[in-house]
Amino acid sequence: MTAKTYELRTFGCQMNVHDSERMAGLLEDAGYVRAPENADGADVVVFNTCAVRENADNRLYGNLGQLAPKKAARPGMQIAVGGCLAQKDRETIVRKAPWVDVVFGTHNVGKLPVLLERARVQEEAQVELAESLEAFPSTLPTRRESAYAAWVSVSVGCNNTCTFCIVPQLRGKEKDRRPGDILAEVEALVAEGVTEITLLGQNVNAYGQDIGDREAFGKLLRACGRIEGLERVRFTSPHPRDFTDDVIAAMAETPNVMPQLHMPLQSGSSRVLKAMRRSYRQERFLGIIEKVRDAMPHAALSTDIIVGFPGETEEDFEETLHVVRESRFAQAFTFQYSKRPGTPAAEMDGQVPKEVVQERYERLVALQEEISWEENRKQVGRTVELLVAEGEGRKDDTTHRLSGRAPDNRLVHFTRPEEPVRPGDMVTAEITYAAPHHLLAEGTVGPVRRTRAGDAWERRQAGPEDDGRGVLLGLPKVGVPEPLPAAEGCCTTH
Ligand code: SF4
Ligand code: F3S
Repeated sequence: MTAKTYELRTFGCQMNVHDSERMAGLLEDAGYVRAPENADGADVVVFNTCAVRENADNRLYGNLGQLAPKKAARPGMQIAVGGCLAQKDRETIVRKAPWVDVVFGTHNVGKLPVLLERARVQEEAQVELAESLEAFPSTLPTRRESAYAAWVSVSVGCNNTCTFCIVPQLRGKEKDRRPGDILAEVEALVAEGVTEITLLGQNVNAYGQDIGDREAFGKLLRACGRIEGLERVRFTSPHPRDFTDDVIAAMAETPNVMPQLHMPLQSGSSRVLKAMRRSYRQERFLGIIEKVRDAMPHAALSTDIIVGFPGETEEDFEETLHVVRESRFAQAFTFQYSKRPGTPAAEMDGQVPKEVVQERYERLVALQEEISWEENRKQVGRTVELLVAEGEGRKDDTTHRLSGRAPDNRLVHFTRPEEPVRPGDMVTAEITYAAPHHLLAEGTVGPVRRTRAGDAWERRQAGPEDDGRGVLLGLPKVGVPEPLPAAEGCCTTH
């Protein structure tokens, strides 16, 4: 009997991307195989949804609507909806789309294969959501997207109550993993060939609340520094409120913690920050930036900013521009405020007219572009070691140019060296040109440092037998995980 195929459609932030790796692992453990990319439909289609956007539900029902005739024509096909929107909309999903077979939430990802089976046997939709986490997703089987870079959860959930954010309602209160479990996972990944990890949490540097140690995150970074073979450590996302000096010291003193920091600003106005219920103020944010710059002069900083939060005045917006000028971010993810149903901010007075938001947004983007470009131009002439990435090459001339990430996570396109090189290997290159969003290293590039990560990538290409982990051929091309908001153009983790 041929194995049933599955397709996973992921929306939202890194949390969902990582949960999808778990869902894929669970399904493969249960005997499913990933449907080839160009296949005409799969036996099981799983939506891992995000609830952040105002029209997220319309998009989901649109997608489900398109699948209805396919399902009618394909006996035995199943559709499952999980993730944040499922956690929020629950039974509504099967009421609006009765052809859906399974609805599951953010707290019971591990139930997916069982619910699919139960829906098949009982021939009726299974809606099962838990109010709190059943099993830390990291204890579930996983099917990692990259052979050389991996996400590692340190915590799930968030104890904050930012007024624009729906995430705590859907992901619950913060739950921390034990440091020993995290480090054991990192060590196991390194043993498989992974050289870069990104520690992941809704609020990574609040890590430690559950285990009664306020300095636990800094200690975790230092412990990662002692893992042999682990070359690059990143994390996302910290909250300025919890950003303590011991974390800055740990970053600066641990050689494999990369000189890069993504720290969400959201607004430069202390008045707006208060309305957002974000407990730091402009001075504190700028103070952290200054300390980070003192400790790591070459660190690349990036951020998230929301423009047009209810009640934002021109003066408030000017404060944001001021912080952007002072901070000199290498990159900023800028979002126009949009109401997120179920959040306090959606009901606030003083919603800013669309044209005003648009105009401010354009000014902010123009300023940030200018700064990004200036900061990138400072890189020209520097020699950096690049982790060769898969799937980030420029589509037009991929044969001549490859892409990689510098230690500070800048994207660099470089001339293909004469020596053979694989994703996961390291290449030394001199930066020759800067654009606002990428750098070029043209001309002679090398040497190439062949790594265990490159070996791991090659093993994957060789197919499941050689991989030893049942990984399939035909992986979608993905690069090194971006420690930045993934997809939705929302304020994702913070
Ligand atoms: Fe928590 Fe971030 Fe949402 Fe604030 S924006 S409630 S810190 S997840
Ligand atoms: Fe959930 Fe992430 Fe969206 S936590 S609501 S998928 S931004």
